[in-house]
Amino acid sequence: MREWTREERYRELKSPEEIRKLHERNAASVYRQAYHVQPVTGLSSDPNGFTRYKDVWHLFYQWCPWGAVHGLKYWYHVTSRDLLSWKNAGVGLYPDRDFDNRGVHSGSAITAGGKLLLFYTGNHRDENWVRTPYTCAAVLGADGKPEKLPAPLFGPRPDCSEHQRDPKIVWNAEKERYYIFLGAQTADGRGSVLIYTAKDPLGAWTFAGQLKVPGYESFGGMWECPCITRLGGKDVLIFSPQYTLLPGRGESTNHNIYLVGTMDYDTLTFTPEGDYRHLDYGFDFYAAQFASGVEEENKAILIAWIGLPDNHYPTEEEDWEGSMTLPRTLRLENGKLLQSPAADLASLRERELTKEEPLPAACELSVDLPESDFELALFTGSDGSGGLRLRYDAAKKICTVDRSGMDKRFNEKVGERLDVPFDAAPKTLRVFIDRSSTELFFGEGEAVFTTHSYPTERERNYTASAGVAVRGWALKPSVRDDFVI
Ligand code: FRU
Repeated sequence: MREWTREERYRELKSPEEIRKLHERNAASVYRQAYHVQPVTGLSSDPNGFTRYKDVWHLFYQWCPWGAVHGLKYWYHVTSRDLLSWKNAGVGLYPDRDFDNRGVHSGSAITAGGKLLLFYTGNHRDENWVRTPYTCAAVLGADGKPEKLPAPLFGPRPDCSEHQRDPKIVWNAEKERYYIFLGAQTADGRGSVLIYTAKDPLGAWTFAGQLKVPGYESFGGMWECPCITRLGGKDVLIFSPQYTLLPGRGESTNHNIYLVGTMDYDTLTFTPEGDYRHLDYGFDFYAAQFASGVEEENKAILIAWIGLPDNHYPTEEEDWEGSMTLPRTLRLENGKLLQSPAADLASLRERELTKEEPLPAACELSVDLPESDFELALFTGSDGSGGLRLRYDAAKKICTVDRSGMDKRFNEKVGERLDVPFDAAPKTLRVFIDRSSTELFFGEGEAVFTTHSYPTERERNYTASAGVAVRGWALKPSVRDDFVI
């Protein structure tokens, strides 16, 4: 693993020419994604400002231009008409002001007064590297480029730690007010959300108080990327709690969970109706955010980073890493989220696979599952050994996903085996394999499992136990890898 100095990580990009060669090298990788958004160069992490505006989907991602390293962050902009074909639109937000001098960190978008507004964290550091996070805004101009407000909307609270970031803006029609949910850590190190409110989203904001979530007063050390939406007559709160182990999640200390319940804007209380659940049971899934109310009220589309903070991935050797998940449409059923791919992926099908042929680098599998124990192994060698193995235990209603058999192993210490629990046996499975990721949608989407996967040349086969019926299609690419800065 390459060691980076702070100077290298926080170097400012002065001209596209500085990274043109890097782009050529990155784009030539065999692990470059075919139908997932990925970094134009270097590293992509959290999705930001995901929304639909004037019939175009806008998505930004946390971007570090220089390589597979978390350093000076920009918002890189991509657009789509159908959530399937994505075009690079260039840098959205540069860390070019004193209040964001060490990074334009995560945030969200909303349409107000006919304009697309972006809210983000200005990560300011002084010469002693002391951090002051500011909540800032920008407005998308007619030229498609965001223009920043000259000053931040507000600074940090003195009664919390330096970890205060990732504004999620929402409009509350009943109160006729805007609210910002801001991820935070209390002074004594507990994860929290701070709530601010305003009549005018670009005007004066006041601190309303700390979000109360009964039962979650002491749950993790920082809640990154909080996000809330209305769905099916309920409120859904998601966040990424850090610095804590959770049952069944191996040694990982970074998670992404959701709660279904009711948000009371008078008492600033979110009352959950049941236990938390994982948004995704996979190894590599974090910082999810909704685009909500964008096509119709009560509709929410979710997207996340395929990756985790503190983790390392094999393409680091090629100086790039990261990818977005497929956007997912959410439904709520019996207090549980059901997730399904939002885009019409069937339109990417090139041809149906024959039984004998090896797995193409980008493909979809549609699998009928038996109610008994079963095993499905993807990316095996020609003798059926190794690979990414799914084993279902019908008595326990648990599917264990094991990636320890892959040639390219990574983050072994965090864990290479994870369980997916089911209320009822899943009858079907849709698998979306891209060049460096695999997403498993079980049943109607009651459980989803996302992992990076880097199969080698010889890992192109699969095996299925009796009763498992697999159909597959090769998929055409739908993302453009153009060098647009
Ligand atoms: C989550 C996160 C956010 C922050 C951003 C910086 O991965 O740590 O809290 O805004 O990444 O890149």
